[in-house]
Amino acid sequence: MNQILIGAQWGDEGKGKIIDILARKSNIIVRYQGGNNAGHTVKFDDEVHVLHLIPSGILHPGKICIIGNGVVIDPEALFHEIKVLESKGVKVHGRLFVSEQAHIIFPYHRLIDALLEESRSNGEFIGTTKKGIGPCYADKMARTGIRVGDLRDLPYFRHRLALVLKEKNKVLRRIYGHRGLSFKKVCTDTLRFRKRLLAIAIDTPSYLYHAAKKRKNILFEGAQGTLLDVDHGTYPFVTSSNASVGGAIAGSGVSPTLIDNVIGVVKAYTTRVGEGPFPTQFPPVLMKQIQTKGGEFGSTTGRPRRCGWFDALIARHSVRINGLNEMVIMKLDVLSGLDEIKIAVGYKLNGKTYRDFPPSSCKLVRCRPIYETMKGWKQDLTAVKRWKDLPLNAQRYIRRLSRLMETRIAMVSVGSKRSQTIRLTNGK
Ligand code: IMP
Ligand code: MG
Repeated sequence: MNQILIGAQWGDEGKGKIIDILARKSNIIVRYQGGNNAGHTVKFDDEVHVLHLIPSGILHPGKICIIGNGVVIDPEALFHEIKVLESKGVKVHGRLFVSEQAHIIFPYHRLIDALLEESRSNGEFIGTTKKGIGPCYADKMARTGIRVGDLRDLPYFRHRLALVLKEKNKVLRRIYGHRGLSFKKVCTDTLRFRKRLLAIAIDTPSYLYHAAKKRKNILFEGAQGTLLDVDHGTYPFVTSSNASVGGAIAGSGVSPTLIDNVIGVVKAYTTRVGEGPFPTQFPPVLMKQIQTKGGEFGSTTGRPRRCGWFDALIARHSVRINGLNEMVIMKLDVLSGLDEIKIAVGYKLNGKTYRDFPPSSCKLVRCRPIYETMKGWKQDLTAVKRWKDLPLNAQRYIRRLSRLMETRIAMVSVGSKRSQTIRLTNGK
């Protein structure tokens, strides 16, 4: 069975934990978009791991992990992550492969990411992770990117880098008043990783094709979330890749006809890290309360995540865009203790009611949510293992979300441990 796991909000839904559960029945786990802007937190054997670039499946001995062509790779970040994993006793050697077609993040990408963000004014900040992701994807589209496979032919690599850096230095000097980067330094710094990178570089689309033909189970691990998708998210407050289902196809080279299932992940409330419209954002006191209780701090940047009520419009938008067959609901335990829980079921703008997510940030920023209010529950949920042991109001809440999202619920998570997961075999 080949499955794609997708974030159905603004990222940080808790995909890491679900990947960890699904990885047990998979042979191969594939990352297909984004880069080390992502942060997947996984509790494995009571140890907490934060993965940025390497698929979370690496924590399962014997599984093959692939970084697909759609991912942008910062070699320094990659080898640092490998080193950290190996220092914790995780064997990476022989199990991790990267696509020859994946683009490389260079120091000028990181620098331009930071300078561009600094040059933006209030209301225009994106709040990027400053990992060089956007500028690297921009180069890919402008056909000025350099790919992992280009490292094989040294004279060609040097030639490409010299050409690109000349242009980058013009921009750095003329626009940003920066002194620019030395070709020698950028080249030497990258070539330090050449041998190690080439040793794991393969033709991933072909590898995955043959694996699928041999009926291996492939799990596609999405990063970020549908609302951060460059096409289907809250543009321009998005990341620069397709975090929705299309990204899995384009970013791995695997045909959609080989995919059996697409699963979404949402939190029982909503969070967003970085800038951009967020209609259901909590008022300050509740925000602080949920932020603290839910541990809502970015795993890549440490920034506090903005928190808000569950927004059924954005979740349903994700269900439709991705064709989600089922949904996993995370962090239900965080909502315990509230008297009332709200769900946005529509938006109001200039006297008009919207039931579907409007694909324009200018509109969204002015939309006021229409809430439905449900009764909360007091009980602590962290020890609940079965659906029938959930408080009735929690069951009602989940059922309501399922109806509003127009999809079945496969699992409900009530804590970070694998054992704190309620499986709903017949859906809800
Ligand atoms: P970039 O991906 O670094 O360019 O950042 C663009 C936007 O996406 C910013 O608002 C980031 O905070 C957000 N973002 C990027 N990666 C993640 C993620 O893994 N989780 C949540 N937000 C993210
Ligand atoms: Mg994250």
